[in-house]
Amino acid sequence: MSTCVIVPAAGSGTRLGSAEPKAFVRLRGRSLLGRSLNTIISSGVATTVVVAAPEEHLSAAEREIAEIASGASGMSITAVAGGRDRVESVRLALRHSQASDLVLVHDAARCLTPPEVFRRVVAALDAGAEAVVPVLPMTDTVRRVSADGTLRGDLDRKSLRRIQTPQGFTSAILERAHASHRDELDRLGARAREATDDAGLVERLGVDVVAVDGHEEALKITYPLDLVVGEHIARLRDDADASEARP
Ligand code: CTP
Ligand code: MG
Repeated sequence: MSTCVIVPAAGSGTRLGSAEPKAFVRLRGRSLLGRSLNTIISSGVATTVVVAAPEEHLSAAEREIAEIASGASGMSITAVAGGRDRVESVRLALRHSQASDLVLVHDAARCLTPPEVFRRVVAALDAGAEAVVPVLPMTDTVRRVSADGTLRGDLDRKSLRRIQTPQGFTSAILERAHASHRDELDRLGARAREATDDAGLVERLGVDVVAVDGHEEALKITYPLDLVVGEHIARLRDDADASEARP
């Protein structure tokens, strides 16, 4: 089965506060985008990869791709201009997914996701799921807060999960989910339901989304503190890779 991996990388990284878009921020000398692409290649699941890059940084994304493409024998990796929000970036990239059977969507910001998580998601799709997300349990206690800032009521932590990427889908389902969201935006404008991830859009179609184990190290680089933790994880990974490469 052919699998396209879409990499949303078109965000600016406002919360990180760096001068350049987040995908080009470096962790131990390698950009978040470069690290994400390397992991995707080494997971062995991708037939094609489409990066949604900031429009004005398309050539920087193409340079990142060229740098690592030598290790991606025969795999097509392209960059396209992303959109105003993540959902739009995925929708634009989806047009270039070349009629793949499966589509995985993986945030460049989760560049430390281990390759085994990609393989778990694809294994669940191969076993017949139409939509798959990697998840982790909640560690904090969570509460609902009302508009005046007071806490109202418990949520059962045991029934809640933190959602990660890569999220995997049959391409037919993902395309239907994005088309349906687009329709809703056209009809309702600002009153359309907010969409933060692809699995959420698929769920609205009434399709079951299957959960597989995520990974604690697959954190989303969002705030400066995440870069500190990310540097540490990246050092352990880079050291392990270097000792593997040594004869
Ligand atoms: N993303 C995208 N297109 C956008 C916005 C976000 O492709 N218009 C991507 C980001 O590049 C990132 C992923 O979606 O890989 C998750 O988004 P987030 O972590 O929120 O990144 P940013 O939007 O860049 O960060 P911030 O919200 O702090 O500005
Ligand atoms: Mg964002």
